[in-house]
Amino acid sequence: MAAAGPAEVVVVGSCMTDLVSLTTRLPKAGETIHGHKFFIGFGGKGANQCIQAARLGAKTLMICKVGKDSFGNDYIENFKRNGISTDFVGQTEDAATGAASIIVNSEVKTLFNPAPAHAELDPQFYTHSDIFCCNESEAEILTGIPVGSPEDAGKVGLVLLERGCKLVIVTLGAEGCVMISVDEPIPKHVPAGKVRAVDTTGAGDSFVGALAFFMACYPNLSMEEVIRKSNFIASVSVQASGTQSSYPYRKDLPQDLF
Ligand SMILES: Nc1ncnc2c1ncn2[C@@H]1O[C@H](COP(=O)(O)OP(=O)(O)OP(=O)(O)O)[C@@H](O)[C@H]1O
Ligand SMILES: *[C@@H]1O[C@H](CO)[C@@H](O)[C@H](O)[C@H]1NC(C)=O
Ligand SMILES: *[C@@H]1O[C@H](CO)[C@@H](O)[C@H](O)[C@H]1NC(C)=O
Repeated sequence: MAAAGPAEVVVVGSCMTDLVSLTTRLPKAGETIHGHKFFIGFGGKGANQCIQAARLGAKTLMICKVGKDSFGNDYIENFKRNGISTDFVGQTEDAATGAASIIVNSEVKTLFNPAPAHAELDPQFYTHSDIFCCNESEAEILTGIPVGSPEDAGKVGLVLLERGCKLVIVTLGAEGCVMISVDEPIPKHVPAGKVRAVDTTGAGDSFVGALAFFMACYPNLSMEEVIRKSNFIASVSVQASGTQSSYPYRKDLPQDLF
């Protein structure tokens, strides 16, 4: 699956192994209880976004660090299975920490996803990002404006433009998202299609991964069209359970998306 040539999408971000135990209730401190299912999943926001971009067909490269242990080895295998270059995946004795992810394509467009968000984000992140994409709670942490509607998201967008962002996208779950840019400083709501959501975990990363894919591989599309397509892909991911396990492959999507 890995194609030769330079990467189209480069992701700097976290890479985590999820150890998931399904139980009927939480154990008390020190208590041992019976679980009915256990599985290991691949997670981490940066890695999720990279996997979604790769499954859509972008040449991808991941920059992160994993531990020098079996989980780290397994994660590197997971990247390789998905056709992602691991030349810059380091292995260390230290624990991996995921704080934020930056996606860069070959034209050095920078897409920044402030997850997890901190109110005192270095202001250079606003001015240096071509696209600044956050969800409702991140938007509130960064601006103090509670977001419950497309109108609120528009207000957040205006504040972030004042801080130096060029283009802001605020995702709104089932409501899709709102975009606003320096070129067109009027908030635009781009709704998502109505679907039966089964599990919305990781929808935001599917959206950001799809956004990176379309920006890198279809540079001529308008941002509104890129967002429409990314909404569609993220809305497919919410119709299956799990995080990376719910991310669609290009071959399973309507071909008029590409
Ligand atoms: N119920 C839904 N129906 C349709 N599309 C959805 C739904 N939930 C999410 N989406 C799609 O996924 C995108 C991202 O969702 P959301 O804003 O919930 O991100 P998030 O909060 O970062 O998600 P998470 O933290 O669960 O990964 C939305 O912009 C939309 O395109
Ligand atoms: C937004 O993303 C953060 C991670 O930064 C997550 O913890 C939070 O639950 C998300 N918010 C919503 C409304 O899904
Ligand atoms: C994008 O647009 C430019 C200028 O209109 C054109 O030369 C180029 O072939 C287009 N690229 C793609 C991939 O469609």
